[in-house]
Amino acid sequence: MADYKLLVEQLKALTEDEPNYIPVLSNASALIKDNLEDLNWAGFYLMNNGSLLLGPFQGKVACIRIALGKGVCGTAALNDEVLVVPNVHEFPGHIACDCASNSEIVIPIHKEGKVIGVLDIDSPSINRFTENDKEGLSELVRVLEEVTEF
Ligand code: SME
Repeated sequence: MADYKLLVEQLKALTEDEPNYIPVLSNASALIKDNLEDLNWAGFYLMNNGSLLLGPFQGKVACIRIALGKGVCGTAALNDEVLVVPNVHEFPGHIACDCASNSEIVIPIHKEGKVIGVLDIDSPSINRFTENDKEGLSELVRVLEEVTEF
């Protein structure tokens, strides 16, 4: 099980000297992909001209733009809700970037009350993401919201 307390401390340390979103989100995706078991993709989509644009990530190449309301990411961003999808093949409109993905968690990122992007994490296992992951990853996103200059 991931040690989210430690990950929060590591993320804070990594972001101490430089708040720019490119290094912060790049290192955050590397930290997540490296420290959580059984993932095939971890990264960010950021709001840009009314849709989600691919940001820093770790994993296979991914789709570049996702419309609001489309796929798991677009739905989470539009409705401003954390989505835990135990089986992506049962999610209507799921966008398959890496065919290895079987479950997914998407967490909206806010600035001044508005959704400005999402953290998206995929696993090759069905039902990979627990309540503990949801809480821990939401805490990591809260740190990002505090420290990052988007
Ligand atoms: N599966 C996502 C698309 C992004 S990839 O997983 C990296 C979705 O349905 O929104």
